Amino acid sequence: MSSKEKFASKMEFPPQTEQPNVYPLTWISKTKKMEEIWEASQREYWDPAKLPWDTFDVESYTWEERECIAYWWTLLSVFDASAPPVFAAAMIKTYEDHEEDPVRRCFFSVTRDEQNHEQVCGMFITKLLGHPDPLTYEPKTEIGKKAQKNTKWLYFNGGRYWDGYKKAVPRYSLAVLFSSFLMGEIASSTIFHQMANGNKELVFKEAFKNIGRDEGRHMAICMSLMERDYPKLQMDDRKTITKQIRAGYLFLSAVLFEPPTDFWDLPSDFIEVQREIEANCRNAGFFIPEYEQKKENWRNAILNLKGVLDKYDIPFPAIPEVGITGEEIRDVDMDDIIPVF
Ligand SMILES: [Fe+2]
Ligand SMILES: [Fe+2]
Repeated sequence: MSSKEKFASKMEFPPQTEQPNVYPLTWISKTKKMEEIWEASQREYWDPAKLPWDTFDVESYTWEERECIAYWWTLLSVFDASAPPVFAAAMIKTYEDHEEDPVRRCFFSVTRDEQNHEQVCGMFITKLLGHPDPLTYEPKTEIGKKAQKNTKWLYFNGGRYWDGYKKAVPRYSLAVLFSSFLMGEIASSTIFHQMANGNKELVFKEAFKNIGRDEGRHMAICMSLMERDYPKLQMDDRKTITKQIRAGYLFLSAVLFEPPTDFWDLPSDFIEVQREIEANCRNAGFFIPEYEQKKENWRNAILNLKGVLDKYDIPFPAIPEVGITGEEIRDVDMDDIIPVF
């Protein structure tokens, strides 16, 4: 039907609007939990510009320390700077699918939260480096140079999944699309709470407290979506979810644990350099959980997720890296993944 064709002179009521149509014109609310999460997101909204920036004296850190802490925020922003478009696309899908009103609002809130997280990363990087872009920044120290090389490789890897994601969005249901997302939210809310508790610098503490609280809400959104949709899941969807969980583990390990080098395309000294940077951060008072603690966090997040999926008879993938047995999943590549943060 051409959009120019005129109907009003020929009939009393207009023809049916073809579906899927991007706007629902319905405000149905069935999932009470989603309403509660939305209300919490309104109450807990925060403005990055209002963090206690005036207490942060960047000059009290050495250039090595500044470059190392900025590297950690850069590592986080590889995930958090892609989150706003990822969730914006998911939010459009909730409109196309004529999802319930509170579900649309919840996805809007995640998009808004992730935009805040991205802003915070940018604000810290800019303050620490005195430059708004870690890729074109001119490093002042040896460790800064090594950090920038790592950054370039992270950026290259992170840039490879957007096309796959865009193709996946129309193909899968929201509940399938966001199965690996839950694991990221569980682990990230844990790590940010630890970082809020461990950091002495007030502005870091406050930022992590807020980000951690947001991630906890994102986790709850994901849980209620699963509770609503997983009981009526198709067999094929179950298989996709198992694969997604493995892919999510591989992808998110880069920030929540250490990047698995068979999946991430990284130089051989990458992890060694990152460990050195993290040690410098810790010496400067910027708390980052140690290797064993990260591994423990990851393992707990995965076991939590396994508990959820077991309820719906969805086979869990083997994650031998943290000692979890399950279905062997091979050959995951950047094209298959739909992970989000
Ligand atoms: Fe985030
Ligand atoms: Fe999130």
